[in-house]
Amino acid sequence: MAYKPNDYYTKKAKEENFAARSIYKLQEIDVKYNIFKGAKQVLDLGASPGSWSQYVSRKLGNQTKILSIDLNPLSQEIPYVTFVLADIFKIDLIELAKKEGFTDLFDVILSDMAPKTTGIRITDQARSYELSQMALNVALNLLKTHGNFVCKMFDSNEFQNYNKQLLTHFKKVNVLRPKSTRKESKEIFFIAQDFIG
Ligand SMILES: C[S@@+](CC[C@H](N)C(=O)[O-])C[C@H]1O[C@@H](n2cnc3c(N)ncnc32)[C@H](O)[C@@H]1O
Repeated sequence: MAYKPNDYYTKKAKEENFAARSIYKLQEIDVKYNIFKGAKQVLDLGASPGSWSQYVSRKLGNQTKILSIDLNPLSQEIPYVTFVLADIFKIDLIELAKKEGFTDLFDVILSDMAPKTTGIRITDQARSYELSQMALNVALNLLKTHGNFVCKMFDSNEFQNYNKQLLTHFKKVNVLRPKSTRKESKEIFFIAQDFIG
């Protein structure tokens, strides 16, 4: 499917000085589910080029510290963000967070991680599922009780399985396909709230 660089959300992101159009997915999730209330520490997995970290930074300001991780760098420095260039499968996030001065557990954990797509649907779905599982694993270890977790996944047969896992650890689980998601994309977002711990 053709990439449309100049669509409405791409233009809007440029005008509002956000690094990517993905910002409007997180904004829609936040408006609908109010996920950042009182958050002091936020973890952003798959943060590059940086629009989600920018959103959190602008919204919460200096009351919040953000730890952002990606295989690729951010497009710019973002206030209140500590960025670490890393592969989520190859680091000890508990150690890393401590080393970077994140002394407490996180109030919110976000994962917009996506694999490099191959065009082979089943392969892309499997890789996306692997990333979602990893993100959930991170959340189970680093999220505060009552905290919130947002995770992207390419829709697949694993949907029910993932949803079921979330329901055993969170009081509320919602699924959203944001308005700004491209028509051809299979992505969905799980919004899991009130971590049981
Ligand atoms: C859709 S982009 C994220 C966009 C970002 N939320 C924003 O608003 O700018 C997905 C990101 O996941 C990252 N990613 C994929 N696999 C990863 C891994 N194993 N470790 C860390 N980041 C990964 C990619 O490098 C890519 O930058």
